[in-house]
Amino acid sequence: MMNDVVLSVRNLETEFLTDNGPVKVLHGVSFDVKKGKTLGLVGESGCGKSVTSMSIMGLLPKPYGNVVSGEIIYRNKDLVTLPASEMYEMRGNNIAIIFQDPMTALNPVHTIGKQLMEVLELHRPELAKKERRQYALEMLDKVKIPMPEKRLDEYPHNLSGGMRQRVMIAMALACKPDILICDEPTTALDVTVQASILELMNDLQEETGMSMIFITHDLGVVAEVCDDVAVMYAGKIVEKADVFDIFDNPQHPYTKRLLGFMPDLDSEPKQLIDIKPVDVTEFPEFRG
Ligand SMILES: Nc1ncnc2c1ncn2[C@@H]1O[C@H](COP(=O)(O)OP(=O)(O)O)[C@@H](O)[C@H]1O
Ligand SMILES: [Mg+2]
Repeated sequence: MMNDVVLSVRNLETEFLTDNGPVKVLHGVSFDVKKGKTLGLVGESGCGKSVTSMSIMGLLPKPYGNVVSGEIIYRNKDLVTLPASEMYEMRGNNIAIIFQDPMTALNPVHTIGKQLMEVLELHRPELAKKERRQYALEMLDKVKIPMPEKRLDEYPHNLSGGMRQRVMIAMALACKPDILICDEPTTALDVTVQASILELMNDLQEETGMSMIFITHDLGVVAEVCDDVAVMYAGKIVEKADVFDIFDNPQHPYTKRLLGFMPDLDSEPKQLIDIKPVDVTEFPEFRG
């Protein structure tokens, strides 16, 4: 592995056992994540982005979801074959994830402070109780939540969607992961809130030197945060390039089509007739 690569996904195949038998969802997915850089994993809804992130995190629903072949190499270990106990250690400590909807990840009946301190108790056992509260405050401050002292005693529903996502980012970063997987973290947020979260993520990455996998279907977001891009279509990576080449010199027809979806502010609005939905019927794994 080249030494600037922190995570290497190679020929990953993941399938689900369904009532109609096994259905393969990932068909040999390969990409590298570089140290301190952000890889964008981009593609339409249903193409397999979240299944890829769940495969990396070892969070596929068991016993139905399984990686059936391929490797996920991190620090010379293959996460696919890592014992569950080591995978448990890895999650949060080395590789963390944030999701689209923080409300499902936060527990509605506990205060923000309690939940943050629980994470710290689990992953930073060296901190004493008093230090944990102090550290939780620092984390909220780091993700630019105003009046962090007050927020610690509030419940998730007291916070706006953007503030909740900042709390999730604080929790993910509390353990100083090497790699942060962001699965459509700003999709549910309105555009201005999204922009401020993306700016925060860029700043935090610069400060911590962590790597990110940024999952999105939004090419505008890709342009904001990614260094490298892997374009995914129907469970396959169809194109990989640095972010400039993806926009300036896309190779694969699907990438070109994705770019056609982008509003171009300099020219006339694109005619609707240009936008052809992808024909998913040719891929039996697309259901519903
Ligand atoms: N638990 C599951 N059981 C069966 N199929 C699933 C399951 N989770 C996801 N899939 C299928 O895997 C494919 C990719 O889904 P997903 O990775 O969630 O797409 P996205 O790119 O939108 O994140 C979809 O066809 C979806 O139906
Ligand atoms: Mg998804």
